[in-house]
Amino acid sequence: MKIDVITLFPEMFIQFITTSIIGRAIKHNLVEINVHNLRDYSTDAHHKVDDTPYGGGDGMVLTCQPVFDCIEKLRTKDSCVIMLTPDGTTFDEANAYDLSRKKHLIVLCGHYEGFDERIRSIVDMEISIGDYILTGGEIPSMVIMDSVIRLIPGVIKENSHLLESFNNNLLDYPVYTKPSDFRGLKVPDVLLSGDHKKIAEYRLVESKKKTAKRRPDLLKK
Ligand SMILES: C[S@@+](CC[C@H](N)C(=O)[O-])C[C@H]1O[C@@H](n2cnc3c(N)ncnc32)[C@H](O)[C@@H]1O
Repeated sequence: MKIDVITLFPEMFIQFITTSIIGRAIKHNLVEINVHNLRDYSTDAHHKVDDTPYGGGDGMVLTCQPVFDCIEKLRTKDSCVIMLTPDGTTFDEANAYDLSRKKHLIVLCGHYEGFDERIRSIVDMEISIGDYILTGGEIPSMVIMDSVIRLIPGVIKENSHLLESFNNNLLDYPVYTKPSDFRGLKVPDVLLSGDHKKIAEYRLVESKKKTAKRRPDLLKK
């Protein structure tokens, strides 16, 4: 998969693309991430990318010209252009699976008051990561890329994500590691029994119990 990120703050991505699982996925050519500075696409002498809103109001609005030019340069027939915006569709694991099957993502990060409305006409999807406002689309873009990249075959251990929260609309079961007794807090006996059938049953029951208690909405799906 190839991902092109369009941002005013490319430096925010340095750690993201070089660290841990994402860094390894890039190194092993499972994903390619290119970060583009929107200012480089501005035809303004001072590389201006924003302006005041028509009709008045606070803040600056990202202008059409650099965004249109940048997307038109990067887009191919395989591209899916994603605008990050608080009024978009709320992102979830099912969206992450869908996006993980695409060949090319172009991820557009906003800033200030957001985008000139006409920019929506050239994107394929508008995504929000939740009902709160962040200063820019950089962190949302990393949230989406991280959740998508780990689903690309070969990035994490085969099938390990199938047992994680939100798959089959269940939350993950409780996990423990050594020691089996920490200050009197004990690991359930079944996990020490070596009986894999019983362990699987225990985990499914715990997973369902936790989901019913914390996220009953998932069980209705
Ligand atoms: C300060 S926000 C603009 C908020 C906009 N005026 C509004 O009220 O909907 C600036 C940029 O941050 C990004 N952003 C902020 N919150 C977000 C969220 N919850 N999901 C996705 N992107 C977000 C978007 O790219 C947005 O254009």
